[in-house]
Amino acid sequence: MSITTPVLAASDLSKHYGNAAVRVAAVEGVSLTVERGEFVAIMGPSGSGKSTLLSILGAMNPPTGGRVLIDEIDVYQLRQDRQADLRREYLGFVFQQLELIPYLTALENVMLPLAILKEDGKRDRALAALERVGLDEAKANRLPSALSGGEQGRVAIARAVVNDPPIILADEPTGSLDTATGDQVLSLLRQLAGHGHAVIMVTHNPESLRTVDRVVMLRDGRLASDSRVTAGTDQLLAPHGFCSG
Ligand SMILES: Nc1ncnc2c1ncn2[C@@H]1O[C@H](COP(=O)(O)OP(=O)(O)O)[C@@H](O)[C@H]1O
Ligand SMILES: [Mg+2]
Repeated sequence: MSITTPVLAASDLSKHYGNAAVRVAAVEGVSLTVERGEFVAIMGPSGSGKSTLLSILGAMNPPTGGRVLIDEIDVYQLRQDRQADLRREYLGFVFQQLELIPYLTALENVMLPLAILKEDGKRDRALAALERVGLDEAKANRLPSALSGGEQGRVAIARAVVNDPPIILADEPTGSLDTATGDQVLSLLRQLAGHGHAVIMVTHNPESLRTVDRVVMLRDGRLASDSRVTAGTDQLLAPHGFCSG
């Protein structure tokens, strides 16, 4: 594999739901290439296919057409058990609802993706991941309910990165957070991109455009635009009606 190979390459993706009578083209003809270290925002109105696209890229939802290459591996040509291995090795997920297990401590939540390692190794790796997002051992031993929203967001990110996956997928990770904690989560994701992870984030938050490298706009399941954000491109913030819920 050459160093210039994109970590993620999706071509001509489509996803159709329903039957012959009622058909929804949730995603249609989307091609997308993402490099290591890139921080990409996927935006678009509600129902434009953002979550569907993310789940296809995340090896969780087989497309109706097209293909996804992760590190040159054709994801949906793999057997299901190999797809699960690939998810564990290559992908970290952060969801809007964070999906922390309420009866497990922060540390135990972060240890979950490490199922196959020995107990001591898991603990050390999980503590290191929590430390990277600024949570010490005292916080690590608390239940999610004893942590602030921002701290819970950081636990979710620690869990997503504990395997050191090259690709991090986030679906509205700041959606349930107030502005200040949302900003913390965004800057953590920014740092991860700085460390060479490819970060792909679905967002409704125009503020996040100040943090990302690139904005992919979807409309009715199609790619409406794909633009690089350079310092001062505030025109990206204005004209689109993408703030709908
Ligand atoms: N599992 C499903 N079954 C049927 N239709 C779906 C399913 N998931 C999504 N859709 C439809 O696909 C379209 C895109 O949905 P989604 O990807 O969730 O959009 P977004 O995340 O941009 O709001 C919507 O019309 C939605 O109703
Ligand atoms: Mg969605």
